[in-house]
Amino acid sequence: MFKIIIMLIIAYLLGSIPSGVLIGKKFFNVDIRKQGSGNIGTTNTFRVLGPKAGTVVLLMDILKGTLAASQPYLFHTPNVNPLLIGLAAILGHTFSIFDHYKGGKAVATSAGILLAYNPPFFIIACIIFASLVYLTSTVSVASMTALVLISILSLFYHDWILTTVAVVLTFFIFYRHRENIKRLRNGTESLIPFGFWYHH
Ligand code: G3P
Repeated sequence: MFKIIIMLIIAYLLGSIPSGVLIGKKFFNVDIRKQGSGNIGTTNTFRVLGPKAGTVVLLMDILKGTLAASQPYLFHTPNVNPLLIGLAAILGHTFSIFDHYKGGKAVATSAGILLAYNPPFFIIACIIFASLVYLTSTVSVASMTALVLISILSLFYHDWILTTVAVVLTFFIFYRHRENIKRLRNGTESLIPFGFWYHH
Protein backbone atom coordinates (compact mmCIF):
# COMPACT_ATOMS: atom_id res chain seq x y z
CA MET A 1 0.00 0.00 0.00
CA PHE A 2 2.86 2.36 0.94
CA LYS A 3 4.50 1.75 -2.47
CA ILE A 4 1.20 2.54 -4.25
CA ILE A 5 0.85 5.84 -2.39
CA ILE A 6 4.45 6.80 -3.26
CA MET A 7 3.85 5.91 -6.93
CA LEU A 8 0.64 7.97 -6.99
CA ILE A 9 2.43 10.97 -5.48
CA ILE A 10 5.33 10.68 -7.97
CA ALA A 11 2.83 10.35 -10.83
CA TYR A 12 0.92 13.41 -9.66
CA LEU A 13 4.14 15.45 -9.35
CA LEU A 14 5.38 14.33 -12.79
CA GLY A 15 2.03 15.20 -14.33
CA SER A 16 2.11 18.58 -12.61
CA ILE A 17 5.23 19.72 -14.51
CA PRO A 18 3.78 22.45 -16.77
CA SER A 19 5.98 21.81 -19.82
CA GLY A 20 4.35 24.44 -22.04
CA VAL A 21 4.65 27.15 -19.38
CA LEU A 22 8.29 26.25 -18.67
CA ILE A 23 9.39 26.17 -22.33
CA GLY A 24 7.49 29.40 -23.10
CA LYS A 25 8.97 31.30 -20.18
CA LYS A 26 12.52 29.94 -20.33
CA PHE A 27 13.18 30.12 -24.08
CA PHE A 28 10.68 32.68 -25.45
CA ASN A 29 9.84 34.87 -22.47
CA VAL A 30 6.19 34.22 -23.33
CA ASP A 31 3.42 33.13 -20.98
CA ILE A 32 1.61 30.55 -23.09
CA ARG A 33 -1.39 30.81 -20.73
CA LYS A 34 -2.00 34.37 -21.94
CA GLN A 35 -1.83 33.73 -25.69
CA GLY A 36 -3.75 31.78 -28.31
CA SER A 37 -6.28 29.46 -26.69
CA GLY A 38 -4.56 29.99 -23.32
CA ASN A 39 -4.01 26.24 -23.03
CA ILE A 40 -0.59 25.01 -21.90
CA GLY A 41 -0.50 22.02 -24.25
CA THR A 42 1.16 21.06 -27.52
CA THR A 43 -1.44 22.63 -29.83
CA ASN A 44 -1.24 26.06 -28.29
CA THR A 45 2.55 25.87 -28.07
CA PHE A 46 2.69 25.07 -31.82
CA ARG A 47 0.24 27.92 -32.44
CA VAL A 48 2.07 30.54 -30.38
CA LEU A 49 5.72 29.45 -30.26
CA GLY A 50 6.12 27.33 -33.40
CA PRO A 51 6.83 23.70 -34.32
CA LYS A 52 10.12 23.22 -32.44
CA ALA A 53 8.70 24.34 -29.10
CA GLY A 54 5.46 22.47 -29.86
CA THR A 55 7.35 19.23 -30.51
CA VAL A 56 9.37 19.57 -27.28
CA VAL A 57 6.18 20.16 -25.26
CA LEU A 58 4.50 17.19 -26.98
CA LEU A 59 7.42 14.91 -26.09
CA MET A 60 7.64 16.21 -22.52
CA ASP A 61 3.90 15.76 -21.93
CA ILE A 62 3.94 12.24 -23.39
CA LEU A 63 7.03 11.38 -21.32
CA LYS A 64 5.36 12.53 -18.09
CA GLY A 65 2.56 10.03 -18.64
CA THR A 66 4.92 7.26 -19.74
CA LEU A 67 7.23 7.66 -16.74
CA ALA A 68 4.32 7.88 -14.31
CA ALA A 69 2.65 4.75 -15.67
CA SER A 70 5.96 2.84 -15.92
CA GLN A 71 6.49 2.92 -12.17
CA PRO A 72 4.86 -0.46 -11.46
CA TYR A 73 7.38 -1.99 -13.91
CA LEU A 74 10.31 0.05 -12.55
CA PHE A 75 9.49 -0.69 -8.90
CA HIS A 76 8.70 -4.36 -9.51
CA THR A 77 5.07 -4.21 -8.42
CA PRO A 78 3.35 -6.13 -11.23
CA ASN A 79 0.12 -6.40 -9.22
CA VAL A 80 -0.39 -2.62 -9.57
CA ASN A 81 -2.11 -1.54 -12.79
CA PRO A 82 -0.02 1.14 -14.62
CA LEU A 83 -3.19 2.79 -15.95
CA LEU A 84 -4.44 3.53 -12.45
CA ILE A 85 -1.09 5.07 -11.45
CA GLY A 86 -1.15 7.00 -14.74
CA LEU A 87 -4.46 8.59 -13.79
CA ALA A 88 -2.62 10.48 -11.03
CA ALA A 89 -0.41 12.03 -13.74
CA ILE A 90 -3.56 13.17 -15.57
CA LEU A 91 -4.75 14.81 -12.36
CA GLY A 92 -1.34 16.50 -12.01
CA HIS A 93 -1.41 17.71 -15.61
CA THR A 94 -4.89 19.19 -15.29
CA PHE A 95 -4.70 20.41 -11.66
CA SER A 96 -0.99 21.17 -11.34
CA ILE A 97 0.50 21.79 -7.90
CA PHE A 98 3.10 23.99 -9.68
CA ASP A 99 0.51 26.12 -11.49
CA HIS A 100 -2.21 27.09 -9.00
CA TYR A 101 -4.07 23.79 -9.57
CA LYS A 102 -4.71 24.68 -13.21
CA GLY A 103 -3.45 22.87 -16.27
CA GLY A 104 -4.00 21.38 -19.69
CA LYS A 105 -6.43 19.06 -21.43
CA ALA A 106 -4.51 15.82 -20.84
CA VAL A 107 -4.43 14.47 -24.40
CA ALA A 108 -0.65 13.99 -24.73
CA THR A 109 -0.23 12.77 -21.14
CA SER A 110 -2.99 10.20 -21.71
CA ALA A 111 -1.13 9.04 -24.81
CA GLY A 112 2.03 8.67 -22.73
CA ILE A 113 0.22 6.42 -20.28
CA LEU A 114 -1.00 4.25 -23.15
CA LEU A 115 2.59 4.06 -24.45
CA ALA A 116 3.73 2.59 -21.12
CA TYR A 117 0.80 0.17 -20.90
CA ASN A 118 0.32 -1.07 -24.45
CA PRO A 119 2.83 0.24 -27.06
CA PRO A 120 1.11 -1.31 -30.12
CA PHE A 121 -2.21 0.28 -29.12
CA PHE A 122 -0.36 3.58 -28.60
CA ILE A 123 0.86 3.40 -32.21
CA ILE A 124 -2.69 2.67 -33.44
CA ALA A 125 -3.95 5.61 -31.35
CA CYS A 126 -1.30 7.92 -32.86
CA ILE A 127 -2.27 6.87 -36.42
CA ILE A 128 -5.97 7.51 -35.63
CA PHE A 129 -5.18 10.91 -34.09
CA ALA A 130 -2.85 12.00 -36.92
CA SER A 131 -5.43 10.93 -39.56
CA LEU A 132 -8.15 12.89 -37.77
CA VAL A 133 -5.94 15.99 -37.51
CA TYR A 134 -5.26 15.70 -41.25
CA LEU A 135 -8.92 15.21 -42.13
CA THR A 136 -10.41 17.88 -39.86
CA SER A 137 -7.54 20.38 -39.47
CA THR A 138 -8.88 20.91 -35.96
CA VAL A 139 -6.86 19.42 -33.11
CA SER A 140 -9.68 19.64 -30.58
CA VAL A 141 -12.05 17.67 -32.86
CA ALA A 142 -9.29 15.14 -33.55
CA SER A 143 -8.53 14.78 -29.82
CA MET A 144 -12.14 14.19 -28.78
CA THR A 145 -12.97 11.89 -31.72
CA ALA A 146 -9.77 9.89 -31.21
CA LEU A 147 -10.68 9.27 -27.57
CA VAL A 148 -14.11 7.93 -28.58
CA LEU A 149 -12.58 5.63 -31.23
CA ILE A 150 -9.85 4.44 -28.84
CA SER A 151 -12.49 3.59 -26.21
CA ILE A 152 -14.38 1.51 -28.79
CA LEU A 153 -11.22 -0.18 -30.11
CA SER A 154 -10.10 -0.99 -26.55
CA LEU A 155 -12.97 -3.53 -26.45
CA PHE A 156 -10.91 -5.78 -28.74
CA TYR A 157 -8.31 -6.21 -25.96
CA HIS A 158 -10.87 -7.70 -23.54
CA ASP A 159 -9.26 -5.65 -20.76
CA TRP A 160 -11.99 -4.06 -18.67
CA ILE A 161 -9.58 -1.73 -16.83
CA LEU A 162 -8.25 -0.40 -20.16
CA THR A 163 -11.78 0.18 -21.49
CA THR A 164 -12.99 1.75 -18.24
CA VAL A 165 -10.00 4.11 -18.10
CA ALA A 166 -10.45 4.99 -21.80
CA VAL A 167 -14.15 5.79 -21.28
CA VAL A 168 -13.47 7.83 -18.11
CA LEU A 169 -10.73 9.76 -19.94
CA THR A 170 -13.05 10.34 -22.91
CA PHE A 171 -15.65 12.03 -20.66
CA PHE A 172 -12.91 13.95 -18.82
CA ILE A 173 -11.26 15.14 -22.02
CA PHE A 174 -14.63 16.28 -23.47
CA TYR A 175 -15.14 18.21 -20.22
CA ARG A 176 -11.67 19.77 -20.52
CA HIS A 177 -12.52 20.78 -24.10
CA ARG A 178 -15.71 22.63 -23.13
CA GLU A 179 -14.32 25.99 -24.32
CA ASN A 180 -13.29 24.35 -27.62
CA ILE A 181 -16.83 22.90 -27.98
CA LYS A 182 -18.26 26.42 -27.51
CA ARG A 183 -15.88 27.77 -30.17
CA LEU A 184 -16.77 24.91 -32.53
CA ARG A 185 -20.46 25.78 -32.15
CA ASN A 186 -19.73 29.48 -32.82
CA GLY A 187 -17.50 28.66 -35.76
CA THR A 188 -14.52 30.36 -34.10
CA GLU A 189 -12.31 27.35 -33.32
CA SER A 190 -8.88 27.76 -34.92
CA LEU A 191 -7.77 25.43 -37.69
CA ILE A 192 -4.25 24.28 -38.39
CA PRO A 193 -3.01 25.13 -41.88
CA PHE A 194 -3.27 21.77 -43.64
CA GLY A 195 -5.91 19.16 -44.37
CA PHE A 196 -8.86 18.87 -46.68
CA TRP A 197 -10.81 21.80 -45.20
CA TYR A 198 -7.90 24.08 -45.84
CA HIS A 199 -7.25 22.97 -49.42
CA HIS A 200 -10.86 23.16 -50.68
O1 G3P B 1 -5.01 18.78 -26.80
C1 G3P B 1 -5.51 20.06 -26.79
C2 G3P B 1 -6.19 20.29 -28.10
O2 G3P B 1 -7.13 19.29 -28.32
C3 G3P B 1 -6.81 21.64 -28.19
O3 G3P B 1 -5.89 22.64 -27.83
O4 G3P B 1 -5.05 24.94 -27.71
O5 G3P B 1 -6.72 24.31 -29.46
O6 G3P B 1 -7.43 24.44 -27.08
P1 G3P B 1 -6.30 24.16 -28.03
